[in-house]
Amino acid sequence: MCGIVGYVGNRDVIKVLIDGLVSLEYRGYDSAGIAVNDEGNIKIYKSIGKLINLKNLLQEKKSEIKNVKSGIGHIRWATHGGATEFNAHPHTCSCGKLVLVHNGIIENFKELKEKLIKEGCIFRSQTDTETIAHLFALEYGKTHDLKQAVQNGLKQLKGAYAICVMHKDEPDKIVATRKNAPLLIGLGENENFVASDIPAFIEYTKKAIYLDDGDIAVVTPTNIDFYDENDNLIKKKTEQLPWEPIALSKLGYKHFMLKEIHEQPDVIRNVLNGKLCSIDEPIVLNEVQIDNDKLKNLNRIEIIACGTSLHAAMVGKYIIEDFTGIAVEVEPSSEYIYRKTVTNDKTLVIGVSQSGETADTITAIRQAKEKGAHVLIITNRPDSSMARYADSLIPVSAGIEISVAATKSYTAQLLSFYLLAIKLAEIKNSLSLEYLKNLKHELIQIPVKLEEILNNKIEIQKCARKFANYKNFIFIARGINLATALEGALKLKEVSYINATGYAAGELKHGPIAMLDETMPVLSILIPGGITYDKILSNSEEAKARNARLIALTSAEDEHLKDIFENIIKIPPVPEILSPIIANVPCQLLAYYISEFLGKDVDQPRNLAKSVTVE
Ligand code: G6P
Repeated sequence: MCGIVGYVGNRDVIKVLIDGLVSLEYRGYDSAGIAVNDEGNIKIYKSIGKLINLKNLLQEKKSEIKNVKSGIGHIRWATHGGATEFNAHPHTCSCGKLVLVHNGIIENFKELKEKLIKEGCIFRSQTDTETIAHLFALEYGKTHDLKQAVQNGLKQLKGAYAICVMHKDEPDKIVATRKNAPLLIGLGENENFVASDIPAFIEYTKKAIYLDDGDIAVVTPTNIDFYDENDNLIKKKTEQLPWEPIALSKLGYKHFMLKEIHEQPDVIRNVLNGKLCSIDEPIVLNEVQIDNDKLKNLNRIEIIACGTSLHAAMVGKYIIEDFTGIAVEVEPSSEYIYRKTVTNDKTLVIGVSQSGETADTITAIRQAKEKGAHVLIITNRPDSSMARYADSLIPVSAGIEISVAATKSYTAQLLSFYLLAIKLAEIKNSLSLEYLKNLKHELIQIPVKLEEILNNKIEIQKCARKFANYKNFIFIARGINLATALEGALKLKEVSYINATGYAAGELKHGPIAMLDETMPVLSILIPGGITYDKILSNSEEAKARNARLIALTSAEDEHLKDIFENIIKIPPVPEILSPIIANVPCQLLAYYISEFLGKDVDQPRNLAKSVTVE
């Protein structure tokens, strides 16, 4: 949520900043802005709406920018104050000499603002961020040293922040700091970068240093000094980033979402690689740092997550309980953090997060840790804040996901849960060898089955066109695919803004059935051979009797289905217990094609952000 980029060096600063913001656009896109030091003058350019508006503005203003060697940029997802030009970053102090960008939330900004107004500061925006600019500027007035001003100012801030600040009188210098919000430095030759995420500078360098909470970095083209919160000069480890710039390209696909949906067979192969080596061997999950005796005696697991990751958690609960008999509770992080939980040192708490930066989940796992629980994180970003807090980590290895709607990361999260559940079953001896072998065999077949779905996507595209103009949509399923129904509905909601809802099929008759008529498409997920197939069929008949437009998502060859369902989306046969991995992909495609057909902004749907770093 929100993106920061900063640069000091000899390149075309505006281009570096804008390209950096483009690559961070998936984090938020209400407004954007940059500030540069142009021969000793701070110049600020801001636009509301998508980044293209800022690009156009800069094109118009090109002639007024002379010689720039440093700058900071920001792309915003509005929290405090609407998406207006005044509220867009960068923000300055009253005299305009100090300028900064900020991700996060300053919790005590109201008190600070009142105090600063009394001291004569003139506020122009409704943001919490502007408070920091005035505060740092007042401190600068006392010390005339930007690093010291930041160090002193930070002592008065409460909340979460990643901040990059520049001062007119200290040209070619960025001071950067963070607390509970990601920020890292990219190292170049006679140039350096600061960003809230790797894509902003991966084109130029793969060498990076991650800031830790409380660190302050003083960044110039030729030098970077790091200080801890007590102002001690510290040494930081340089890391080689395992990223290729090509990962940030659409590779010919119209949208990142479509590209990422198509990457799923390879993502699964990747996840299985080295972990599921043969059907006769146990699962290798060296990342889980809990000794086998503890795992064997585990009797309670809590899984906490948000959004799509929460749906992966639901499947996780189902299979862990099914395979091992261990009781599992699933809860949205935002609920977990505001109640008295029974988490203790005997609980295994699993946090699931694509980004590893979701504020609610970070707070939840911190609380769990304080209660003594072992915290295992399943994340796509082993470099994230959550990964740093974790006792154990399962990296889901989906590769960078750019589209705001999570697709391949969900599939990889599911796979990670299957591997974990099987591993636990092996340790507890709770499944027969035959069953385990069959499960592993079927898991290995999944990439090919997904390829089959992707090769037949034209049928889903046709179905999407037929139903694109409906205002409402219901997804029904039972058992393990309830999560698939919820995720299918969430995906459709996110990218097409259709009012889509997922229901446990048995619940349809307890209320939602009142909404059914010929204007309501109902998609039923039916896995033949499964324990719920006949029941979902009956629930679908109930919907048909109310004239709903019925779609089946199934591998069944049953001719009778044609009498009930208007459209049948076929999936390859798969055991019900593994079916969420397969059944979810047509739902992703359906959502994608409806969104594309309606001309929506598929990769950057309105009001959403890829990672939500505020509670
Ligand atoms: C945002 C995204 C969702 C995502 C959720 C949780 O709302 O738009 O796609 O599922 O955050 O994110 P996480 O990174 O924790 O999985």
